[in-house]
Amino acid sequence: MPGAFLITGGTPLSGTVRVAGSKNAALPMMAAALLTDEPVVLDGVPRLTDVATLCRVLGELGVEAAWDGAGSGPSRALRLQVLDRSAVRARYALVRRMRASFCVLGPLLARRGKAVVSLPGGCRIGPRPVDLHLKGLAALGAELTLAHGYVIARAKRLRGAAIDLSGPAGPTVTGTANVLSAAVLARGETLLRGAAGEPEIVDLGRLLCRMGARIDGLGTSTVRVRGVDGLGGARHRIIPDRIEAATLALAAVATGGTAAVTGVVPGHLAAVLDRLAGAGVDLSSGADWIRLGAPRPPRPCAIAAEPYPGIPSDVQAQWTALMSVASGRSVVRDRVFPQRFAHVAELVRLGARIERIPGAAVVDGVAGLSGATVTASDLRASAALVVAGLAARGKTRVENVHWLDRGYEALDRKLTGLGAAIKRAEAGVLAQA
Ligand code: EPU
Repeated sequence: MPGAFLITGGTPLSGTVRVAGSKNAALPMMAAALLTDEPVVLDGVPRLTDVATLCRVLGELGVEAAWDGAGSGPSRALRLQVLDRSAVRARYALVRRMRASFCVLGPLLARRGKAVVSLPGGCRIGPRPVDLHLKGLAALGAELTLAHGYVIARAKRLRGAAIDLSGPAGPTVTGTANVLSAAVLARGETLLRGAAGEPEIVDLGRLLCRMGARIDGLGTSTVRVRGVDGLGGARHRIIPDRIEAATLALAAVATGGTAAVTGVVPGHLAAVLDRLAGAGVDLSSGADWIRLGAPRPPRPCAIAAEPYPGIPSDVQAQWTALMSVASGRSVVRDRVFPQRFAHVAELVRLGARIERIPGAAVVDGVAGLSGATVTASDLRASAALVVAGLAARGKTRVENVHWLDRGYEALDRKLTGLGAAIKRAEAGVLAQA
C-alpha cells in the first residue's frame, strides 16, 4: 500500500520509546531455519513487511512460519519449521521485492544440495553486487551457474575452505551470513577472512551455535567454522534494532527534544552516541537504555559511514537530516554505499542546504526547515524525511511510506508516543488530498 505520513513538525519530542528486535538480524536467522528439520523459534522478531516477504519465500521452500503469542512487544516469537524439503527455488517476484531473500541461498544449498535463487537485481541505494556471496560458496565447493536471471548452485556436500570475503568497500554483511550459514554444514574446517563483524552477524552465529554449529571468532574479521553433520532446533532472542534506536534518537535530537530509548544495547550504538556527543547532545546510558537531551540547534558534526564498529550506512540519511538544522557546515560521507544519497533532493524540498560531492553530502545547517510534500525512495531515506519533517515548521507529507513499513515497526505510533503530530493517510485518502 503506498500511503503517506502527515506530519505537523516543530514539537520537541519527549518521553520514552522501546525499540523492536533487529530486522537485519532476524532476516538471515529466519533463512537459517532451512538448515534443520526441527523448529527454530526466534523471540522478538519485528512485524515488518520484509519479515512477511521472507516468510513467503520460506513458505515456498516448505517452511511453516507461525507467530507464537498474541499482541505486540518483546514476548512475540516467530516459529519456523521445515515440513517439506523438496523445493529449492526462490522466485524473482519475491527476491526482487527484498534483496535479503538472497540469504536463503547458502542454507538451501548446504541442506538440500541444490538451490535456485533469483539474482536480486538493481537497487535504489547504489550497486549491490553479490559476487562475494558466490565466491564464498564456490570456494566451499558449490558448482554455480547463472541462467535466466537465476543462480543455480549444486553441491552434494560442501567442504571447508579458506575464503577471503573482503570486497572493495570492506566486508559484506549478508555475504558473510550466506557463507557462514553454508559453512556450518560443510565437511571440515572453514576459515573466513574479511568477515563482517556487525552485531547482526554475531547474533546469527549465536543462533547457529545453539543449533549445534561450531564457530569461533564471531565479531572479528576472522571466523573459524568446524563443520558438523547436522543441526537441530533452537530458541533464540534476537538483538534490539540498533538502526531503529538511532533513528528514534536522531528524531528526538532534530526536534530539540529529550527522550529515552529503551530495550537497546548501548554498546552497539557507540559510534552514533559518540557523534551525538560531538553534536552537543547531553547523553546518559544504562544496561539497556540511552537518554538524550538535545541542544538547539545541534552543533555541526561530520561523519563517515563505515562497517561496524563505525557509523552505520543505515544511519547516514538520518544524520544528513539532523545536520540540516545544525549551526554550521558538516560533511556526511558514506564509504559503504557512496551513492546512497537519494534523500538529499527531498531534504532540499524541505529547505535544507545540501550539496552533493562524490561519496558525500556537504550540509549547511539552516535556522529552520519548512514543511512540504516529499517522496520516500528507500527505507532509510524515508526515515530521514520523517526526521526532517518532525523538525520542520508546518506540515510535511511523506509519500510512499510503504518503504518505512519494510523496516520500522509502527514508527508512527512510536513517534506519537513521544508527542509527535504524525498521522498515517491511507492510499485512498492520499489520492483525494
Ligand atoms: N559488496 C560487493 N560484493 C558483494 C556484496 C557486497 O562488492 O558480493 C559491496 C556493496 O556494494 C557495498 C559493500 O560491499 O559497497 C557492503 O555491502 P553489504 O553486502 O555489506 O550489504 P548487504 O549485506 O547487502 C546489509 C544490510 C543493509 C546495510 C548494509 C551495510 C541486511 C538485510 N541489509 O546489506 O541494510 O545497509 O548491510 O551495513 O542486513 C537497510 O536495512 O536499510 C539496509 C539496506
